[in-house]
Amino acid sequence: MTANVFTDDFDFENRIVDTSEIREDTFDNDNPLRPKTFDDYIGQEKAKENLKVYIEAAKLRGEPLDHVLLYGPPGLGKTTLSAIIANELGVNIRITSGPAIEKPGDLAALLTNLNPGDVLFIDEIHRMSRSVEEILYPSMEDFAIDIITGKGQMAASYHLPLPKFTLVGATTRAGQLSAPLRDRFGVVLRLELYTTEELAQIITRSAGILGIPIEHEGAMELASRSRGTPRIANRFLKRVRDFAQVMSDGVITYEVAKTALDRLEVDSLGLDGNDRRMLSAMIKNYGGGPVGLDTIAAAIGEEAVTIEDVYEPYLMQIGFISRTPRGRCVTPLAYEHLGLKAPGDLGSGSLQPTLFED
Ligand code: ADE
Repeated sequence: MTANVFTDDFDFENRIVDTSEIREDTFDNDNPLRPKTFDDYIGQEKAKENLKVYIEAAKLRGEPLDHVLLYGPPGLGKTTLSAIIANELGVNIRITSGPAIEKPGDLAALLTNLNPGDVLFIDEIHRMSRSVEEILYPSMEDFAIDIITGKGQMAASYHLPLPKFTLVGATTRAGQLSAPLRDRFGVVLRLELYTTEELAQIITRSAGILGIPIEHEGAMELASRSRGTPRIANRFLKRVRDFAQVMSDGVITYEVAKTALDRLEVDSLGLDGNDRRMLSAMIKNYGGGPVGLDTIAAAIGEEAVTIEDVYEPYLMQIGFISRTPRGRCVTPLAYEHLGLKAPGDLGSGSLQPTLFED
């Protein structure tokens, strides 16, 4: 029997499939799960192989690595990758974020404190203010900033040289970067959602580090519900360990993983109530689409950017949503997953489930 998705409780703040960082997975060099070298880092083969070449070449020339832009959905390891870049280059990394750099002076302070060759990592770089962005341009291009002090007749301008550094910018929204900023990155890499096999390897690696016994089928079950995202996979591992210890002998088997994730209300494909509610709102209110992003956002009380960055990438990867010039459409695959008949599908004679009963 299909659940009535309109009466499910929704909790946007406490999704176990949330991809935003929480305290237990924020950047912390002591986090033992974070890979420190390319050899430990699983997946993102294309980005990794290219980065290895650029790093090797920069080291051979004795020059800093070109500025790097990493983009893609949240939770895929952009911060981890930037720390690996610094580690492989043998330099220090300074970590900040677009919203944390409030004034041009904050950025100037960061830049003047770098050592030659260091990596400056700016997360959510699309959220930097215009005034900060403007001093970033000459810093990236000429390794210098012009600082103006005083006003009127007392105004003075100083040309301040900076150490040659590598900026690694990360964003979920490459399209929101201004063209002048985007153009100043020599290396632009898109991170992809991970495959189930890659996530199972990450889970097995993490379980080994944390001393959690896990069977291959258990890892595959966690992986297949992790929405292509290591951050979710590692979070599942820690929660499911609790179930394994209380329900059985501590080993994460297929049965333990399945039971635990069912109880966490994460379905067989990793969708939670919020995903199902979005799909259902599109079906119930807009006949499955096409429907515009802002309309969907208003219908489910979520921000359009969250839908675009967090919900959509995975729903598109599994083929549940398609984008058309006239808006988003729910695909027949998604109807099937929700136990519904797609429009135009005369079906096999089974009754339409009572998804929309009130
Ligand atoms: N933990 C989180 N992301 C990882 C990755 N890509 N490889 C290995 N361990 C990870």
